[in-house]
Amino acid sequence: MLNFAFHNPVKLIFGKGQIAALGREVPEGARVLLAFGGGSIYKNGVHAQVVAALKGRTLVEFGGIEPNPKFETLMDAVDLGRREEVDFVLAVGGGSVLDGSKFVALAIPYEGDPWAIVARRGRPRTALPLGCVLTLPATGSEMNPFAVISRSSTGEKLAFSSEQAYPRFSVLDPETTFSLPPRQIANGVVDAFVHTIEQYLTYPADAPLQDRFAEGILRTLLEEGPKTLAEPRDYAPRANVMWCATLALNGLIGCGVPQDWATHALGHELTALRGLDHAQTLAVVLPHLLREQRASKAAKLLQFADRVWDLRIGTEADRIEDAIRLTGEFFDRMGNPPRLSAYGLGPELAQEVADRLALRGVLPLGERGDVDAEKVVQILTAAQ
Ligand code: NZQ
Ligand code: ZN
Repeated sequence: MLNFAFHNPVKLIFGKGQIAALGREVPEGARVLLAFGGGSIYKNGVHAQVVAALKGRTLVEFGGIEPNPKFETLMDAVDLGRREEVDFVLAVGGGSVLDGSKFVALAIPYEGDPWAIVARRGRPRTALPLGCVLTLPATGSEMNPFAVISRSSTGEKLAFSSEQAYPRFSVLDPETTFSLPPRQIANGVVDAFVHTIEQYLTYPADAPLQDRFAEGILRTLLEEGPKTLAEPRDYAPRANVMWCATLALNGLIGCGVPQDWATHALGHELTALRGLDHAQTLAVVLPHLLREQRASKAAKLLQFADRVWDLRIGTEADRIEDAIRLTGEFFDRMGNPPRLSAYGLGPELAQEVADRLALRGVLPLGERGDVDAEKVVQILTAAQ
């Protein structure tokens, strides 16, 4: 096992009716910047529950944080927050609203150009306290220090991490997810699945507990994910998927093991260039990346085939190929086909993505640092 430090300060409040806990968690008399997205929280009653729970606080509302949240939009929230002298940020929505709110909470007290926080040139020393009400299980943002912010003026989509960005608390009521459209349900299940894979499907590191955590999450998503599509108002599958998504990226399963994240790096470029949903990009890239890397990932691919897909017969090459094929078919069944052509995109993207990653100096990628520009082109060419 590799050395690690594990510290996660987020208080997670999970279950039916738990939005009422905001009345306990948000300080009385706080001036709260209530940040949300395009309005789903009005339609599904979440906004009304939040307002009822926050009686006695001053609410300054900022709506309109878009999927793949934009720096330009978020700077309007920063200006509003500074003008209104808010002292607490409450994010209500999916990963985009949570990520955007992390940036806003960091940027309001930040002296200097706030883009430096995203571009990892500046290290924020402080942030406004942040609380979250999550309505879309997918990213793990509710219990991690990461955020992914896009910038319209430059076409960039960049991920950053800050110790100051951990929420103080996150409320997860699975009933808030009943209103999700099938596309977002699919996105959530696929994103959580791929987060787990990025920390599991590398090479053996004598970490059997982490492996079994990961395999438990993957198998649970395989079982419960399709149920959430079939029965939108069935509480138990929603609760199980929601808890899986949090555990997939709250730091626990990644302790002491090598990590990949190349699928995410390529995926962010596809979103930046062509606007695909985050999880659509992951469904496109992952199976082809696994095929390209099947030699260096062979030991874990065989373990994945055995323990996640119950594949124990046939040659090693066959079991590996079957596990990769079944993974792609699962994404397809959930609603995220594993091919660029399904989203109207063609092979011209492959070189463009490789060039962008090379220009930014982030190549080579992968747990062994062997995903270079040539491999990026091969993966995305195969992803047609
Ligand atoms: O904006 P509203 O009206 O709220 O609608 C949203 C949005 O259109 C809708 N939605 C959310 N909850 C709903 C709902 N609709 C009906 N009922 C509900 N209960 O869903 C749409 C998509 O929301 P979004 O927040 O964009 O989705 P997601 O949670 O998948 O977040 C994606 C973003 O997170 C980043 C991605 O790159 C992307 O920008 N990621 C963040 C990570 C992190 N912080 O650790 C890691 C991930 O790998 C990922 O990169
Ligand atoms: Zn992701």
